[in-house]
Amino acid sequence: MTKGNVTAGRLIAVALLLSSPTGIMLLALVGTGHLERWPAFGTWLTVIVLLIPLVRAHLGELAGLANWIRALAHGGEPVSQPGRGEVVLTEIATAVGALRRLWQQKSTELAESARWNSSLLDNLPDPLLLLDSTRKVVRANRAAIRLFGRELAGCDMVAFLRDPVVLEAVDAVLGGGISNRDCEFSQPVPLDRSFIARIDRLDGQPAAEAAVAILTLHDLTTVKRMERMRADFVANASHELRTPLAALSGFIETLQGPARDDEEAREKFLGIMADQAGRMSRLVADLLSLSRIELNEHTQPSEKVDLARLVTNAAEALKPLAQARGMEIIATISADLPQVIGQPDELTQLFQNLLDNAVKYGRDHRPVEVHAAGIETLPATAGAALRAGPALRVAIRDHGEGIPHEHLPRLTERFYRVDTARSRKMGGTGLGLAIVKHIVNRHRGLLTIESRVGEGSTFTVWLPAAPK
Ligand SMILES: Nc1ncnc2c1ncn2[C@@H]1O[C@H](COP(=O)(O)OP(=O)(O)OP(=O)(O)O)[C@@H](O)[C@H]1O
Ligand SMILES: [Mg+2]
Repeated sequence: MTKGNVTAGRLIAVALLLSSPTGIMLLALVGTGHLERWPAFGTWLTVIVLLIPLVRAHLGELAGLANWIRALAHGGEPVSQPGRGEVVLTEIATAVGALRRLWQQKSTELAESARWNSSLLDNLPDPLLLLDSTRKVVRANRAAIRLFGRELAGCDMVAFLRDPVVLEAVDAVLGGGISNRDCEFSQPVPLDRSFIARIDRLDGQPAAEAAVAILTLHDLTTVKRMERMRADFVANASHELRTPLAALSGFIETLQGPARDDEEAREKFLGIMADQAGRMSRLVADLLSLSRIELNEHTQPSEKVDLARLVTNAAEALKPLAQARGMEIIATISADLPQVIGQPDELTQLFQNLLDNAVKYGRDHRPVEVHAAGIETLPATAGAALRAGPALRVAIRDHGEGIPHEHLPRLTERFYRVDTARSRKMGGTGLGLAIVKHIVNRHRGLLTIESRVGEGSTFTVWLPAAPK
């Protein structure tokens, strides 16, 4: 049992206090003449002497109990509970022990809940910051640290987010004038990104240096890019349609006016008008097929397609165009080329578009080569569907002028052309590769483009093979 130190002075003081009723009683007996003074004094002293060991033991127990509670308060783990001799002390010690167990359980729960809250914040996809009344960061989640590329806790917000609109909004909320505010801002480095920031004042009276406001950032870059792409698409489509339309109107006017009776000019103009009308109808057809493919992009096709036959037929269809340029289409298709699950019309359109480009942008009298085979290894960019099982590849190679490297990432954007004038002159709509990309996506495949300026280009389509 833990015993505390009991001083002699304290011991005597308590013994005197405890003996005081006896002393008063003895005094009364002396006063009334029932007892002599000295025997009474002797009796009182005897009582005090008898009390001393009892008081010492009791005070020792109490001091031990105090020490034990103090040790508990400091988080120590004392060996055993004091006060086993005394019922009251035992009860106090048992109650304190129970209180401690409850407190330990509560603090475990509190730590668990703090850990849970912290992991909740860290797992939020949007950056989030808790700010104190001086705009200092009390807590930043993982997404925020990733966004700003540094540790943020303890920093003034201005050290990493200097946008004046956001700072003004934060100050307005911290100042207490308003409870929340939204604002948009862009972060130009390292990548140009747009965000919407929302600042909310937290409820309740905060302790010093505690969070008083929460700042959340939501990335709008993709939404903005989609908005811009949609606007660009409408502008591009209108422009592409307006050009042949303007030519048609011009020729109609000429034919109605100055060239009315000019037989030769009429023949020539009607030929050009037929070309322009053809271009317009190709454009409308391409736009329609693009939107149809896009609409179905999320539903996987279900037909089993014999790709060997389909590729051979596509090559056959392009033969006349190739021959006109003195080119040959050489198709090497492996005998055991697996089948694919797909939509035959879309796959035909895919290979025709690629072969059409190879013939259009290839070099006169040089061949276009088509290689189709099952494969063992996939490019690093292949998705899960391709990796899930056997796959195959169809590569279409030309020996044309090639495509400068910087254009490659944008080639599959709608209306994107390396040489706009040349593509238009050849009757191109600039939608061929956009259609290819969407068809490949719908078939859970991959399109890769390799090109060397002056040597030619290879467009490769990777597709998952159909189960046998
Ligand atoms: N094999 C290739 N060699 C060189 N450049 C190519 C090749 N394939 C495509 N390109 C470039 O990519 C651009 C986009 O091709 P895309 O097929 O989308 O449009 P297009 O051929 O101009 O028109 P169309 O809609 O008739 O196919 C082309 O304008 C061309 O500049
Ligand atoms: Mg094309």
